[in-house]
Amino acid sequence: MPAEIYGEGYQFLAKPELLTFEEIERLARLFVGMGVEKLRITGGEPLLRHELPQLLQRLIAIDGLADLALTTNGYLLGRQADALAAAGLSRITVSLDSHDEQIFKQMSGRNFGPQRVLEGIDAAARAGMSPIKINCVVQRGVNDHTLVELAGYFRERGHIVRFIEFMDVGTLNGWDLTQVVTADEIAERIDGEFPLEPIAPNYAGEVATRYRYRDGGGEIGIIPSVSKPFCASCTRARLTIEGQLVTCLFAESGVDLRTPMRSGNSDAELSQQIQTIWTARNDRYSELRAGLATSPDKSGARSKIEMYQIGG
Ligand SMILES: C[S@@+](CC[C@H](N)C(=O)[O-])C[C@H]1O[C@@H](n2cnc3c(N)ncnc32)[C@H](O)[C@@H]1O
Repeated sequence: MPAEIYGEGYQFLAKPELLTFEEIERLARLFVGMGVEKLRITGGEPLLRHELPQLLQRLIAIDGLADLALTTNGYLLGRQADALAAAGLSRITVSLDSHDEQIFKQMSGRNFGPQRVLEGIDAAARAGMSPIKINCVVQRGVNDHTLVELAGYFRERGHIVRFIEFMDVGTLNGWDLTQVVTADEIAERIDGEFPLEPIAPNYAGEVATRYRYRDGGGEIGIIPSVSKPFCASCTRARLTIEGQLVTCLFAESGVDLRTPMRSGNSDAELSQQIQTIWTARNDRYSELRAGLATSPDKSGARSKIEMYQIGG
């Protein structure tokens, strides 16, 4: 979130505009009723939501839900880990692009280092969460020289680092292809220090390519979102905090579910609307990216929802 826009005086959405826990739970139930098995709470920053453990409890209680995950920047995790675990959250993903003091400050745009996030990760481990995954977005010339060290740090602690190719989500991160370190190069660099071997996906459509350390020191994942797009097997739907259903990370807009929900639509009507949106989707931006970026009308520069609104 650019500091020059979201400064101290910025007026964020008024509370009535946010989905309530009841509304989130209701939509989650409908999605699970239509076959969704896994939910991920992301953001924005989910640990900023007041009384988040109550929402987790409600979601975990949904019949038919197999997995609940959460992605956080870890800043508030130290003090919330126990409450999240007590609410039933059994695993967590923490974003940490580098554990180098200076690089962390530069990438987070804040004047504090990674120590507090590392302590949050330790707190999650003490609270019994497992696996703990660390998301590291790799940007050439920014943090790519610290990858191997990061892998080594978490290898020792038994956590799974997932290296993610830097994506052109939204319009504000100044992305260009030269900043992308491909999954193959990431694997090669880590393999140079800690020899790796590929392992099978946990399930069909898993976005991370998995590797294990040949010496038995655990595993890593690499997400080749740019170099090997996985649009064809993508089954993710995203729900924004205002109730927009978004069918692609690179979408220009979503479809409003809050208005029909608040105007009294029944569960059957809402399910029907969701089904219509889902079956009509034809998003495949990542597969089209290369062609779009070089097209004469520069259609690659279209407007896209920003990452902090859509959650990664
Ligand atoms: C947008 S954040 C939202 C949740 C939470 N605030 C956090 O920081 O983890 C979710 C994930 O998106 C990933 N992400 C952010 N920008 C990205 C980019 N340009 N390319 C690839 N992944 C990105 C980060 O790794 C992060 O783990």
